[in-house]
Amino acid sequence: MTRINLTVDGSNVSDDVEPRMLLVQYLREKLGKTGTVIGCDTSNCGACTVHLDGVSVKSCNVLAVQADGHEVTTIEGLAQDGELHQMQKSFRECHGLQCGFCTPGMIMQSVDLLKNNPHPSEEEIRVGLEGNLCRCTGYHNIVKSVQHAAAQGGAQ
Ligand code: FES
Ligand code: FES
Repeated sequence: MTRINLTVDGSNVSDDVEPRMLLVQYLREKLGKTGTVIGCDTSNCGACTVHLDGVSVKSCNVLAVQADGHEVTTIEGLAQDGELHQMQKSFRECHGLQCGFCTPGMIMQSVDLLKNNPHPSEEEIRVGLEGNLCRCTGYHNIVKSVQHAAAQGGAQ
């Protein structure tokens, strides 16, 4: 076992973990952060996307021990003081989801996308989300949601 200390959604946590434990497993199984989901665990679908020190990563592709000393934000840490993040509001308002399985990862990736490019073109949004797969929506309303969030100044 290896001792890790990190911040998850604003709280300091310390745990002994197996060195082979994936960050997504740690979040879900040890911390109960089941908002971060597993769609493939082969780095393809993006459903497990979280922020590591503010940068989006696929948490099935990161070991929990690699997050030692770092700050992790999951979909459960995006809302502040009971108010949804603008990206969450935009996905709701633009119907950017159907079953919702891909949505946590889509939103986390979209937040990072707008942080780096606050006014992306449609093509830049599609390219920025190419690592996140959705089996339901056809992506149209997802792109609209990100455009809506951008129009609202939605990187924060
Ligand atoms: S579960 Fe991580 S990319 Fe699919
Ligand atoms: S809304 Fe169902 S997978 Fe995207």
